[in-house]
Amino acid sequence: MASWNQPQEEAAAQKIQIYSTSNTGVSPFWRDKYERDAKKYWDVFYKRHQDKFFKDRHYLDKEWGHYISGAGKKEILEVGCGAGNTIFPLIATYPDVFIHACDFSPRAVNLVKTHKDFTENRVSAFVCDLTIDDLSKHISTSSLDIVTMIFVLSAVSPEKMPLVLQNIRKVLKPSGRLLFRDYSVGDLAQERFAGKDQKISENFYVRGDGTRAFYFSNDFLTSLFKENGFDVEELDLCCKQVENRSRELVMNRRWFQAVFYVTGGLNSSSCNEASVKVDLFGQESVKPEVAENALKESVNNFEVDLSESVASEMFGISSPEDNEMIEVNPRGCSLKIRVLSKEYQHTCKSTGLMLWESARLMADVLARNPTIVAGKRMLELGCGCGGICSMVSANSADLVVATDGDPKALELLNRNVTSNLKPPFVTNCLQID
Ligand SMILES: C[S@@+](CC[C@H](N)C(=O)[O-])C[C@H]1O[C@@H](n2cnc3c(N)ncnc32)[C@H](O)[C@@H]1O
Repeated sequence: MASWNQPQEEAAAQKIQIYSTSNTGVSPFWRDKYERDAKKYWDVFYKRHQDKFFKDRHYLDKEWGHYISGAGKKEILEVGCGAGNTIFPLIATYPDVFIHACDFSPRAVNLVKTHKDFTENRVSAFVCDLTIDDLSKHISTSSLDIVTMIFVLSAVSPEKMPLVLQNIRKVLKPSGRLLFRDYSVGDLAQERFAGKDQKISENFYVRGDGTRAFYFSNDFLTSLFKENGFDVEELDLCCKQVENRSRELVMNRRWFQAVFYVTGGLNSSSCNEASVKVDLFGQESVKPEVAENALKESVNNFEVDLSESVASEMFGISSPEDNEMIEVNPRGCSLKIRVLSKEYQHTCKSTGLMLWESARLMADVLARNPTIVAGKRMLELGCGCGGICSMVSANSADLVVATDGDPKALELLNRNVTSNLKPPFVTNCLQID
């Protein structure tokens, strides 16, 4: 027999948990959304940053020049090409290479095609999701000399990484090489995720803008490639201490640089040639723990991407671009309010950095009915960064005290108050933590 509260029970069972109730990371709802909309988040990234975020990767020649130069015209595939920071230094240095380049963000591919150095004789750029679209529909099987994979695999969820490698394996020549660079566990940016609710799964996090980053361990990386038909030719853990003198900070950046080849694919001559540079990883018989010990941990002069925006991601400092200006017009007032940009709101724990509909309504009520606060002393609790109710009230109240518990919200509130209220009203509006 149905119990009397069956409808409530059913409704409760259908509830979707959107925000995590604990500090254990993002909820399944958001985890699924980040996966489903991964392409969209990256496309918005390029809409926002265009080609200004990453610096050109000029280290490729120094690190991997001996793989790229040499006899004959080399065919390269740059996967996850972004705005082309790997492509254009390569075509400038090597007149004989042809580069296929793909990304799942249509805006990124468009940035490549509209780059001043783009020419169809040297580059073919196309949209492709490496986890879904078959590369062999664009490129002949076993035809590529080199695949470059620079800070791309970390953007893919670990469950789907095997699909990417199997996809690439089909188009790489048996003697070809996959040149890899990506984040390592212990990188400063990973440490900065600790304590925030941005963890999706082990070593996998979502950034404020919805793009994701995985941090590889040596074991994970070697097993992943081996299980998907590759052997390791070189694998280095690179560490660099970066100093920011003005902020008095020392940052440890860590990443892996590796070269992989298709298992059983190398002919004996290239094998010998390879072993000059090889450490122990290329050999099947080496036990993982030996490989771990043999890992070269080097403090070196690799060039690190420290463009301003990467630095701000690392320092956690909101750049002015993280904010957006919105206009609010409660009757008789015009307020320009700075709030956290919409694309950053979804991972922001604070509820005080956005403007709530209820605040708009209340500000409107107060603006239409100034007698509610006229001649009175008013305290607003949890006003958030907008503080629009307090600002509207400051016109008629004797004193307004606007409060919030979030220092970031107060910081923005200060800016909003200063830019919207002129003396004598501004002295009436105080903020306390
Ligand atoms: C950090 S950027 C690296 C860009 C470029 N490789 C470079 O050297 O500057 C990562 C790129 O991977 C792309 N990406 C992420 N997941 C992808 C997927 N499943 N298929 C294709 N591209 C992907 C993103 O759109 C982004 O452009």
